[in-house]
Amino acid sequence: MSLSSTDHPHGVKTVIVPAAGMGTRFLPATKTVPKELLPVVDTPGIELIAEEANALGASRLAVIVAPNKQEVLRHFEQFPNLVETLAERGKTEQVEKVQRAAKLMSPVAVEQAKPLGLGHAVGLAESVLDDDEDVVAVMLPDDLVLPMGVLEKMAAVRAELGGSVLCAVDVPLEDVFNYGVFDVEEIPADCSQDAETVKRVIGMVEKPEPEEAPSTFVATGRYLLDRGIFAALKRIKPGKGGEIQLTDAIELMIREGHPVHIVVHQGKRHDLGNPAGYIPACVDFGLAHPKYGPALKRAITEILAEHEAGRSGAAEQD
Ligand code: UTP
Repeated sequence: MSLSSTDHPHGVKTVIVPAAGMGTRFLPATKTVPKELLPVVDTPGIELIAEEANALGASRLAVIVAPNKQEVLRHFEQFPNLVETLAERGKTEQVEKVQRAAKLMSPVAVEQAKPLGLGHAVGLAESVLDDDEDVVAVMLPDDLVLPMGVLEKMAAVRAELGGSVLCAVDVPLEDVFNYGVFDVEEIPADCSQDAETVKRVIGMVEKPEPEEAPSTFVATGRYLLDRGIFAALKRIKPGKGGEIQLTDAIELMIREGHPVHIVVHQGKRHDLGNPAGYIPACVDFGLAHPKYGPALKRAITEILAEHEAGRSGAAEQD
């Protein structure tokens, strides 16, 4: 029997992980390898998300996958033959690495036959929810939000202020044109949340010019959404790029008076969805890695010196 929502420490039973996108910014790798399986040092993004969902205390990982991306789910299988061979050879550390994903979470697959947008992908997960779930978390495997724990803060905000809660990061004004930017107002003074990091959302502007940006708080891939999101998703029309956009459904809810707040994350964010964000994430994790860190630091220092001297051996690519 599945646990009720109230048995979950933050009231979140299901984490929805949309992983059915085409990953065009990672071609040609994504012809055959889903971007969610690209490793950050040695661990795929999807496993890092499972770790975050596990830490939140969720019990269901609803992974939205495309028909050609079933390998994403395979990552959570048991691999008994591999485990046996490694164990016979005394490779206990590697055995643990193989078994870790399955121990963190067991995923439920939800198929998205065509990439009709993030909102469409999230909407499909309604079919796996229990009746007692009034809230869901959405974690985009493209986004690493570090240190982990922002959803726990978001759940505390929902507990006090109700509605839905989104994660934001504060970026330099000149970078806002890359993001969905929040239009916000202050929370009431008598509320116990930190007014510096919790704001009420009154609207969103997609990729504005700096002079038109309502704030420097931009959306990241963590959402705590009231169950009403599914009804809103059914009522919106395809938006930008002809896709069903999650932000359009959230805006509809805001217009209809549903409270939406942001928690401004105090930490790091890596965007694994494109090489320009993925490479720094690998460097960051690599430098912090006890085994690889020191040698990587030396290698990076050498590579930088070579580049500065105009002696890079790496082939130039577009
Ligand atoms: P992105 O737009 O960043 O991912 O969607 P993408 O479409 O794979 O990337 P590019 O632009 O082609 O390189 C954000 C998240 O939503 C999922 C993606 O897998 C990613 O985790 N997504 C997007 C879906 O699951 N289904 C969709 O139809 C679109």
